[in-house]
Amino acid sequence: MGLRESFQAGLARQLGHPNGLRGRAVGAMLNRRNRVAVVKAVAALELADGETALDIGFGGGLGLSLLLREAGTVHGVDISATMLDRARRTFHQEVAAGRLQLHEGSMTALPLGDASIDAIVSTNTVYFVDDLGAALTEVARVLAPGGRFVLGIGDPDSMARSRMLTGNGFRIRPLAEVETALTAAGLPVTRRERFALGGLGFHVLVTGPN
Ligand SMILES: C[S@@+](CC[C@H](N)C(=O)[O-])C[C@H]1O[C@@H](n2cnc3c(N)ncnc32)[C@H](O)[C@@H]1O
Repeated sequence: MGLRESFQAGLARQLGHPNGLRGRAVGAMLNRRNRVAVVKAVAALELADGETALDIGFGGGLGLSLLLREAGTVHGVDISATMLDRARRTFHQEVAAGRLQLHEGSMTALPLGDASIDAIVSTNTVYFVDDLGAALTEVARVLAPGGRFVLGIGDPDSMARSRMLTGNGFRIRPLAEVETALTAAGLPVTRRERFALGGLGFHVLVTGPN
């Protein structure tokens, strides 16, 4: 493997599971590069004051900070101990006040109770999940009746053109497959937004009451 390929493979691994010093740098980069996507996905939740919200795979933590502006209690779930540590430091006041609860865990086995969350957002995560059906069933389980789930994903056609992603195990699924999986989990899409992000397309899929 050449230098370029090895750098790209390392970066791709870090995107899926940020770890150590490089992982910390990746967290800051995610907040910069994905700002527009995360802002639009959180806005699509249309949070009401005092609601309980969750960001799955929060990475650099931008989504957590946006949720904290409007929600009552915010939960963050991520598989990365490095991202959890970064979030604990960044949001130490909110954690101490009990407004932010951080959990190490996977989207496929959420460490949260049934029907406990009003609004859930997850951006740029499902590429790292092999069993999408299991993950979305978990989302549906923790979502309160009448709750909303917003899924943000890169445009599959744009992503498929990136050798860095296709060569490094990203699960790139056609949009129709993602929507079918959402419907099967009891989370039919009620609204879609598409916009450009760093020259690539990005989709925000909103599920929940019309
Ligand atoms: C590419 S980053 C996206 C971070 C952020 N949501 C954003 O859009 O900038 C992916 C994040 O999802 C986390 N992640 C990957 N697989 C996960 C899983 N199965 N469950 C929960 N988090 C996961 C990674 O640790 C990482 O923090």
